[in-house]
Amino acid sequence: MRVLVTGGAGFIGSNFVRFVLGVRADWRIVNYDALTYAGNLENLRDVEGDPRYEFVRADVCDAEAAARAVEGCVAVVHFAAESHVDRSIMDSAPFVRTNVVGTQVMLDAARRAGVRRFVHVSTDEVYGSLPLERAEERFTERSPLAPTSPYAASKAASDLMALAAHRTHGQDVIVTRCSNNFGAYQFPEKVIPLFTCNLLGGQRVPLYGDGRNVRDWIHVEDHCEALAAVLEGGRAGEVYNIGADNERSNLELTRALLAIVGKGEEMIERVADRPGHDLRYALDARKIREELGWEATRSAWPSALEHTVAWYREHAGWVERVRSGAYRAYYERQYGER
Ligand code: NAD
Ligand code: TYD
Repeated sequence: MRVLVTGGAGFIGSNFVRFVLGVRADWRIVNYDALTYAGNLENLRDVEGDPRYEFVRADVCDAEAAARAVEGCVAVVHFAAESHVDRSIMDSAPFVRTNVVGTQVMLDAARRAGVRRFVHVSTDEVYGSLPLERAEERFTERSPLAPTSPYAASKAASDLMALAAHRTHGQDVIVTRCSNNFGAYQFPEKVIPLFTCNLLGGQRVPLYGDGRNVRDWIHVEDHCEALAAVLEGGRAGEVYNIGADNERSNLELTRALLAIVGKGEEMIERVADRPGHDLRYALDARKIREELGWEATRSAWPSALEHTVAWYREHAGWVERVRSGAYRAYYERQYGER
């Protein structure tokens, strides 16, 4: 079956493309990506020669390109988004454009072409922040949407557009909400690759505020496996949380990274807190476990973190190239100016 993956050159999208080509012999993937600063074809160099894989450079807001690309596809897995909270605080315009308008354009294109299923990849951040005190509280799929950052607000808006398409048009749409991902090929602006790359390069790590904020960490391949399960067995119009029950404070995470690289607390630089910094995310992922039998198996702590740090250590060239933006000129030559 032919599956259109938007944002397949980014962190989770590229892991998903590699994962499904490895485990689903009958899938063909069209990777639809605009190659923004976060998109990088080197992430998929090992699969680009696979006859089941093709790449289209296009924007999710481009309705004509979207209509052409979805033709003949059985499903869309929609990852493409602006994804970094700090960037959304500096300028929210690209977030509204790509995350909200882009999702509407892709939903409409898929529906008009008769695509059978649309999986909209979203985030636990749409639920807002939990208090630190009530440790037993977690977000379920029925928790109210209460996003706080412009990023989360744009993702919540896109979730609602996706669910409205199901309700209004009977479109087969599923929304997934995953917790914080870590693993290979994550752009070194998010905390785990940023701190890892800084430490490996002998630089200090900028810890926001008091470091008490909690995130619920899942390995990216567990997320990818869950998405394949949802695409194949999920129910239309439903929301599925995806999480691995792995809550860590940022200070705990930072100390784990310091232990892995063999460095001390003097490498921590306390910096001003992020405005509106959500205190705690924690997901109840019972629904996907009970309905689809999916279970996280690759997120064990700290071994999964150790493997991730080892990947960044072994891919210093990749880190250097994404940090310097070395690809940009090549992409402009190859695919034209954006
Ligand atoms: P990323 O920033 O690494 O990758 C985003 C990809 O989308 C890039 O390849 C980029 O080139 C592409 N893109 C951006 N704007 C585009 C546009 N206008 N048209 C076409 N392509 C465009 O993001 P990620 O971390 O891989 O996240 C992927 C998805 O998963 C996002 O929807 C995000 O909200 C969601 N998500 C991420 C996490 C996480 O921890 N990273 C957790 C839960 C959900
Ligand atoms: P991030 O990776 O940006 O993911 P998100 O904000 O989507 O959860 O940040 C994860 C946590 O790490 C978050 O609580 C903010 C914190 N953080 C820092 O302390 N320093 C940093 O430089 C960054 C990027 C994040």
